[in-house]
Amino acid sequence: MYNKLIFDYNTPNRVGYDLPTHFAKFDNSKLLAKYGRKQTMILPSASELEVVRHYTNLSLKNFGVETGLYPLGSCTMKYNPKVDEAIASLKGFTNLHPLVSVNECQGSLEVLYELSQKLEKITGMSGFTFEPCAGAHGELTGLMIIKQYHLARKDKKRTKIIIPDSAHGTNPASSNVCGFEVISIASNPDGRINLSSLKSVLNDEVAGIMLTNPNTLGMFEKDILKITKLVHEAGGLCYYDGANLNALLGRVKPTAMGFDVLHLNLHKTFGTPHGGGGPGSGPVGCIAKLVKYLPNPVIIQKGDHYEFSNSKTSIGHVSGYYGNFLVCVKALAFIDSLGETNIAKVSDNAVLNANYIKEALKQDYKLAINEPCKHEVVFGGVINENGVTTLDVAKRLLDYGYHAPTIYFPLIVNEAMMIEPTESESKETLDEFIAVLKLIAKEARENPDLVKGAPHTTIVKRIDEVRAARIPLLTYRELINYHE
Ligand SMILES: Cc1ncc(COP(=O)(O)O)c(C=O)c1O
Repeated sequence: MYNKLIFDYNTPNRVGYDLPTHFAKFDNSKLLAKYGRKQTMILPSASELEVVRHYTNLSLKNFGVETGLYPLGSCTMKYNPKVDEAIASLKGFTNLHPLVSVNECQGSLEVLYELSQKLEKITGMSGFTFEPCAGAHGELTGLMIIKQYHLARKDKKRTKIIIPDSAHGTNPASSNVCGFEVISIASNPDGRINLSSLKSVLNDEVAGIMLTNPNTLGMFEKDILKITKLVHEAGGLCYYDGANLNALLGRVKPTAMGFDVLHLNLHKTFGTPHGGGGPGSGPVGCIAKLVKYLPNPVIIQKGDHYEFSNSKTSIGHVSGYYGNFLVCVKALAFIDSLGETNIAKVSDNAVLNANYIKEALKQDYKLAINEPCKHEVVFGGVINENGVTTLDVAKRLLDYGYHAPTIYFPLIVNEAMMIEPTESESKETLDEFIAVLKLIAKEARENPDLVKGAPHTTIVKRIDEVRAARIPLLTYRELINYHE
């Protein structure tokens, strides 16, 4: 069966917590008649100790960056220094109400202003908004700016966005949500843009192009200057999906590649963990001629005072208040703790670590592209695999105590296994991980059934993923009422 759920502790009349007596005196019959639930609620009766043990044991089953290497490609599961958390936990930040007057939150406005200045220096952009709460939200905001730019010039024909077929899935999704038609262009086998495909779709209906550089195969787009020039000559704008800036941080400015608008994932590159559904931040930056379209308000400095400034041509608000402010505090702490001279070491080490893994494993796993990569490396299955798939390798890694890498993405690589070690891992940790992957490749050659049957040591063995997707039992009620 399954692991014990909290409901399985249910023992009638056992009590862990009593509601205060005034709750019992409150007459809620009218409320209940109108809004009360129709089905009885299933609530477990358990003691405090049972509840504490249950949740403590569950938390111990969790895997995170703080328990081991988390090589999930494209997700940047890196360690985030505790000092950033400590700074963001200061009461002056956490107790701040979004409706206090400008004079009462000068310090917090200074944080946003200073972060904007620093990101402008890093990216080359002229202004930033911190309202978007995720990378995809940033994409939508950036695309709204592109749309507004064309409409303000009365260029109403520009309704198309070009996106390579290797792009992150959020790119076409955001374009659709923004009302653009997506023109997908084929990429070369190395995931780089095919210039002839690009030229064939450029015309006066194109609003812009969305690009990730390095691309989803971890390769730097060598023709980037030609690409952005071609799009500009056709009257379009160039959007940089900067979710993976940890590959270029401090080394390349997106404006130097010809980009006009971008988003960054503060929750990947700058001090906040990615994943887990926690708060994120996808600030959007743009070049000078687009700053007037940024969401209202932006923060300006007058002498030593900070104020809000609203533009009449702005696309308007894209979220409540100022986005996820505490993520911005962590990002500023992250940038300041490294300092201007050290920030490039983030990308240097991220790239070095990925190439170290690439070189160490290329005799055992098929390299998707045999070239120096940026922050992540993509393999296409075990060499001489004996029927062992990438899924089998990922499951076998669990037996050795590792989180699996990203698998079967990017879609353009058969049996893809995408490893992103990030800059925070040491050579020793990488060596241990490499040794385990080499061992699995050896097992695949000598004892393939062992790998095909993995995982063997986890509580839950190989799950039937198709069945789980087709028959999702997501609540306790669904579980107890389900019969095969
Ligand atoms: C290249 C790229 N673009 C966009 C996103 C979307 O970011 P988010 O998950 O914050 O919406 C991601 C996610 O990691 C990404 O890797």
